[in-house]
Amino acid sequence: MLPKQLRQRVTNALLACALGGLAGCGKPSDNGDAATCTTATLGQAAACSGRLLGTALATAHFSEESYMSRALEFNYVTPENEMKWEHTEPTRDQFSFDLGDQIVDFANQNGIRVKGHTLVWHNQLPSWVGAISDPDDLRAAMLDHITTEVEHFRGKVAAWDVVNEAWDPNDPTLLRDSVFSELLGPAFIDDAFTAARAADPDVKLYYNDYGADGLGAKSDSIYDMVADMKTRGIPIDGVGLQMHWRSSAARPSASDVAANIQRLGALGLEVVISEMDVDICNGGTLDEQAAMFHDVVAACLSQPACKAVTFWGITDKYSWLNYFDTSCADGDTPRPLLFDDDYQRKPAYAGVLDALARR
Ligand code: G3I
Repeated sequence: MLPKQLRQRVTNALLACALGGLAGCGKPSDNGDAATCTTATLGQAAACSGRLLGTALATAHFSEESYMSRALEFNYVTPENEMKWEHTEPTRDQFSFDLGDQIVDFANQNGIRVKGHTLVWHNQLPSWVGAISDPDDLRAAMLDHITTEVEHFRGKVAAWDVVNEAWDPNDPTLLRDSVFSELLGPAFIDDAFTAARAADPDVKLYYNDYGADGLGAKSDSIYDMVADMKTRGIPIDGVGLQMHWRSSAARPSASDVAANIQRLGALGLEVVISEMDVDICNGGTLDEQAAMFHDVVAACLSQPACKAVTFWGITDKYSWLNYFDTSCADGDTPRPLLFDDDYQRKPAYAGVLDALARR
């Protein structure tokens, strides 16, 4: 279906809801019963097929009314930065969970689930961690960090990204060089998952990475790693496929994404699309972007193992890419999300809703 037609279809559905003329509008349902399902928000539409539709959320924008009202479109949130190590334990043994608590409180008050992000990552680490040179000391610090943070949020978050981006982006046969891999070797991954499970027996535990969304050398490495973890009884529940895409660069086909989800699911793992955005700087169009969002959501819905799709932010205005993508020509911007700078729905929104409606 063409994006223009998608837009019309969504407009019609929203109008029908607003006029009260469509059965099921207004009441969220997460039982997958089509007769009682509504598509008034993305989260409600996703719940109809038992999926979560999420966004990254940043407390820096909580004072903005439009930001908060658009956040209610979603039934899943991931703190963009607030639960990372540099924020939660900036000084050794001094924990600060205030910002993460704000996100959890907002979510709990609105029936939204939370994925914690992230416990062990080479980036956004406080400087004291990078300064550790003794392996036993680093291992103790890592286990204490995981235990304290997971216990704090126990019962309040549904899942954790336990280890983030451990594979080398340039050589997919290697783990990335980091203080963890260098001092502890690959065992740091097993140890992190084991500590997280001990701190919360019920929360889902995920490995999360980018550039491994479809089939290829890096996703093969991750597949082999998690298959081996499952075989050895390491407590891992799922894999996050970040899905940071650019319209001007090569990307996997939707069928390769579905195939990757399928093989991970065959291991008994859940899969979540965890940080999707599509940078359209350098010649991409809003309609191409809409088609990519549509096709990825459809790929997720085609696979029972795929439980959630999360977008890396609500509005183009606050995307991380505004600061990190230095390739945009003057006057061009990444515009990678579902809502524009003024919080208006983009064609990408219609693409997502259309994919959800065809469940
Ligand atoms: O809050 C300060 C602000 O006070 C200061 O003026 C400004 C100056 O640069 O920096 C602000 O902090 C920035 C923060 O984002 C909040 O916007 C940090 O410098 C910046 O490093 C930080 O970037 C985050 C990035 O991770 C760090 O690598 C992005 O927000 C965040 O979206 C991004 O998220 C990651 C996921 O966690 C993991 N996967 C990749 C994804 C995108 O890089």
